[in-house]
Amino acid sequence: MQNFEFHNPTKIVFGANTVAKLAKLVPETARVLILFGGASAEKTGTLAEVRAALGGRVVQEFGGIEPNPSYETLMGAVAKVRAEKLDFLLAVGGGSVIDGTKFVAAAALYDGEPWEIAQSGGAKVKQALPFGAVLTLPATGSEMNNGAVVTLKATHAKLPFRSALLFPKFSVLDPSKTFTLPAKQIANGLVDAFVHTVEQYLTYPVQALAQDRFAEGLLQTLVEIAPQALAAPDDYDTRANLMWTATLALNGLIGAGVPQDWATHMIGHELTALYDIDHARTLAIVLPALLNVQRDTKRAKLLQYGERVWGIAKDSGSEDERVDAAIAATRGFFESVGIATRLSGYQLGQEAVEAVLAQLAEHGMTSLGEHRDIDLARSRVILEAAL
Ligand code: NZQ
Ligand code: ZN
Repeated sequence: MQNFEFHNPTKIVFGANTVAKLAKLVPETARVLILFGGASAEKTGTLAEVRAALGGRVVQEFGGIEPNPSYETLMGAVAKVRAEKLDFLLAVGGGSVIDGTKFVAAAALYDGEPWEIAQSGGAKVKQALPFGAVLTLPATGSEMNNGAVVTLKATHAKLPFRSALLFPKFSVLDPSKTFTLPAKQIANGLVDAFVHTVEQYLTYPVQALAQDRFAEGLLQTLVEIAPQALAAPDDYDTRANLMWTATLALNGLIGAGVPQDWATHMIGHELTALYDIDHARTLAIVLPALLNVQRDTKRAKLLQYGERVWGIAKDSGSEDERVDAAIAATRGFFESVGIATRLSGYQLGQEAVEAVLAQLAEHGMTSLGEHRDIDLARSRVILEAAL
């Protein structure tokens, strides 16, 4: 196992009817900015619950944070925080709103051009406003981690950043808040959480037995609950399992002491920035192709994954046949929730390969993966395998 430090300070308040607990979670004297996305938070009644729980505090609101939140939009919230001297942010939404809130938390106190926060990967964050979250979409894990991804629309740059100062103080996870999600977003959530787990698990063995078993448990849980999560929007227990599994997939626990990949995410971000494809769908395009191209360096873990997650027995074929079967099962899972796994499924062809490669070069994404061996030439092979 590799050396690690693990510290996750986010308090999780989980369960039905927990939004009212904001009354105690948000400091009494806070001057609050509620941040939310488009219409959903108002339409579902969640915003009304949030407003009621905040009672007599000074409260301002900032709506309109789009999926894949943009710097251009978020700077409007930064201006509001500064003008109204607000000192506590409350995100109400999915990963985009929570990520956007992380950016605003850092940018509001940033001395300089705030896009540098993203350009520096978060290294330039020296202070941040405190913030909490009410999660309405299980997928990203942003509710219990210190990372975020923001887009500069002007240049189609979608960049990740993280900072120890950007953990939410608390996150309220009420699974019944997911009942209103369209099936498409549930499918996205299942795939995003699955790929987060894979990015931290499917690398090479380092004798991290508990992390491996934990990751395999999360993957199996996602596969097990997927049909019911899609078929029965108001099945509380299924949604509760989805919500907590997605959080556990990216709160640092399974990634402690193990090598991590994240190449699928970095390539995927370019597809979103260029073509506005949902985040999870970009992962479904890239991952099966990447696993195939990286099959030699990932071989030991691919075999373990095939056996433990998909029941592909040791005596069921040659190593290469079992690796093929594990990759096919992964692709099959994504397709089974209605997500296309090839660029052609999104009406994209060779031109997209060239455009993504140019973006990767532009953003310095030229040595990706757990061995830093995915250079532009290998990204090309991966993308062409995903056509
Ligand atoms: O905008 P509204 O009207 O609120 O609608 C949203 C949005 O259109 C809707 N929605 C959310 N909760 C709902 C609901 N509709 C009905 N009922 C509800 N309860 O869902 C749509 C998508 O929301 P979004 O927040 O964009 O989705 P998601 O949670 O998948 O977040 C994706 C973003 O997170 C980033 C992605 O790159 C992407 O920008 N990621 C963040 C990570 C992190 N911070 O650790 C890791 C991930 O890998 C990911 O990169
Ligand atoms: Zn993701």
